[in-house]
Amino acid sequence: MRALNDGISLQYLWNADEKTGTVPFLNAAFEFSDQHGGDPGLMKLTMVGSGYVGLVTGACFAETGNEVTCLDVDERKIAMLKRGESPIYEPGLSEMIHRNAAAGRLEFTTDKAAAYKDADVIFICVGTPSDTDGSADLQYVLRVAGDIAEVIDTLGEHQNPKTVVVKSTVPVGTSHKVRDLIKSRTNAPFHIADNPEFLKEGDAIGDFMKPDRVVCGVESEGATKTLNELYEPFLRQGNPIFMMDVRSAEMVKYASNAMLACKISFVNEISRLCEAYGADVKNVREGMCADKRIGNQFLYPGLGYGGSCFPKDTLAVCSMGREVNLPCKLNEAVHVVNQEQRGWFWKKITDVLGEDLNGKTLAFWGVSFKPKTDDIRESPAIALMQMAIDAGARVKAFCPEGLENMRVEFPQAEAAEGMYECLPGADALVVATEWNEFRSPDFGKIAAMLNSKTIFDGRNVYRRSHMAELGFTYVSVGRPAVIGAADGSPATT
Ligand SMILES: NC(=O)c1ccc[n+]([C@@H]2O[C@H](COP(=O)([O-])OP(=O)(O)OC[C@H]3O[C@@H](n4cnc5c(N)ncnc54)[C@H](O)[C@@H]3O)[C@@H](O)[C@H]2O)c1
Repeated sequence: MRALNDGISLQYLWNADEKTGTVPFLNAAFEFSDQHGGDPGLMKLTMVGSGYVGLVTGACFAETGNEVTCLDVDERKIAMLKRGESPIYEPGLSEMIHRNAAAGRLEFTTDKAAAYKDADVIFICVGTPSDTDGSADLQYVLRVAGDIAEVIDTLGEHQNPKTVVVKSTVPVGTSHKVRDLIKSRTNAPFHIADNPEFLKEGDAIGDFMKPDRVVCGVESEGATKTLNELYEPFLRQGNPIFMMDVRSAEMVKYASNAMLACKISFVNEISRLCEAYGADVKNVREGMCADKRIGNQFLYPGLGYGGSCFPKDTLAVCSMGREVNLPCKLNEAVHVVNQEQRGWFWKKITDVLGEDLNGKTLAFWGVSFKPKTDDIRESPAIALMQMAIDAGARVKAFCPEGLENMRVEFPQAEAAEGMYECLPGADALVVATEWNEFRSPDFGKIAAMLNSKTIFDGRNVYRRSHMAELGFTYVSVGRPAVIGAADGSPATT
């Protein structure tokens, strides 16, 4: 049995073979000793970046008893959090923040020196947006690495090694860049790990509290022990934790997102074929998804994926391929199909309303890139609204949680107070995000308020037969259009 906590001599434990990706110690029998000091159950964590990932994961780790500090450079965000307001909308998050802040387990700061100094584990959760060439922009991650080096250097070589965990989605090799950057600036001990995050906005707390799996890229026993202990409360139902080499862990995240993005583009491409050949993608989907090898998740046709992950992660995969002269043709096509999907749906709108929309008004339901989030980054709804404005239309929009961000990021559109408030005077309704409240609306009210009974449904929320009975012109995705009669009587399908 080996105990690997002699502090100084084993301070850098990145003994993974970088070529084969094997981690020798993972196969060895060893006995853990306490690496993070103090009460073995309680850890002091610092989440660097208090956005969708840092805030949710920080609150969830506090929920299981850890002392968590959420650090951010954005003073406005931290001031809001200190006042007890969440800067983002995520179901259940505000309550969890309040509960843990009140219990003294969750605090917020812009003081990086204090946040890094006291932490046993530092999770890097900052953004990795697309650079102009599609590669992941690592400036925020590497800046944090530099900050960490500066602070741990002041604590000297005899401190307990902190575990630096890269949680941001990063190209393969980035965690080693973080490790090497810190190592180049200090002799202080630390462990490095990669721990990609799989939560989805809108269900983030559930996903984190009961993950399908946890993936950790490790190369030291200290990091392995720390991450095993931290995640143990979240894995009580037998869901697995995979300890693997760092590079593979980084790749798991990209491979997973690329696969999910691929499913969406696949079904969107099939939906276009369905339309061209007069098939109904709803029936096709049902028939196809009954095959257990295919499954029914993430195979809904619509306006394409958006948000802060799939678009940038697909591009980052393509960029990783170019770097090593292995073009990722499938992933490139996934991206192209996705970006085309918005224009393709827009053409369906102009086929009905005409190219010139001067003097016309379009009402939009849904601004966020998907339901149950206020995140409007890369939202297909925003892309469609821009197309409408470019064509001369006035745009009014309602979204249960996305309006505040729209007012800041896309003030060209007018925000309506409620879902029906944006309808009067509009020539058509565009359903751009499938929020639950849009699923069973009062169609009589919609018909009375719109100038013309026309709905463009980018998410296939409504039944075609119902729309036809009600006399709407109804255009959806991958299904034949319903053309309403001028007098509003039941339409032909
Ligand atoms: N949003 C998701 O659903 C999701 C899911 C899984 C993984 N991820 C990945 O997690 C990472 C973070 O995503 P996000 O959506 O939470 O981003 P975000 O933009 O919501 O939050 C990032 C935060 O980091 C802060 N920040 C930047 N530099 C900093 C620094 N030097 N020190 C402290 N704070 C700093 C920013 O001010 C911002 O508040 C990305 O790599 C993303 O791909 C996101």
